[in-house]
Amino acid sequence: MDPSKWIDVTSESFKYSLDHFVIPSHYQKDVSSILIPHGIIMDRIEKLAKLIVEDSKGPLVICCVLKGGHQFFADLVNEIKKCNTVLGQSVPLSLEFIKVRSYHNDVSTGTVSISLTDEECQDWKNKNLLIVEDIIDTGNTMVKLLHKLQEFQPASVRVASLLLKKTPKSNGYVPNYVGFAIPDEFVVGYALDYNEYFRDLDHICIISEHGKEAYAIKN
Ligand code: HPA
Ligand code: MG
Repeated sequence: MDPSKWIDVTSESFKYSLDHFVIPSHYQKDVSSILIPHGIIMDRIEKLAKLIVEDSKGPLVICCVLKGGHQFFADLVNEIKKCNTVLGQSVPLSLEFIKVRSYHNDVSTGTVSISLTDEECQDWKNKNLLIVEDIIDTGNTMVKLLHKLQEFQPASVRVASLLLKKTPKSNGYVPNYVGFAIPDEFVVGYALDYNEYFRDLDHICIISEHGKEAYAIKN
């Protein structure tokens, strides 16, 4: 996707004060600002779904990258189904799940564990895959996953990521569909976690030092 088509929320002016929206009280001290309110996420997904349907000629296998991608996946699939009933053109869907893990606290560990069973992946030969991910940060997880998926000889692989972090640690990988380009800060909410916390927060927020400390895994 051409960068001019992303919504760039990297400037300071996109940070909303916690006073402006409702945050669960158990996270009040753990986030410093709201970067993308839930309603804007939903409106953006409506548009991404339309772009994906317009680009899809045949059946799609939509693969959710767990766990962080589950909320984006659920909302995106819903919107694609809506396009299927109103846009005149309809895309048959099947849904798959892949589990990937690479973060410890807010640091990419460099080792990516990918769990997918070969039985499921046998079915991906000659299929058009759409991988649905919550965030591309360094890009290392996605590059490793795409490499692994080639073993299954799909007809095509496209990637939709809700967020793309603008970070000097990026390996340059850019997905086919991007919701928002975000600043180089650790974000949580809308299923994005910090050590499994914050998945129960609807807005995408910037974690505070207090939050990093409160939910750190110490060893
Ligand atoms: N937040 C949550 N999970 C992540 C992030 C982030 O900023 N980067 C990579 N995984
Ligand atoms: Mg995660």
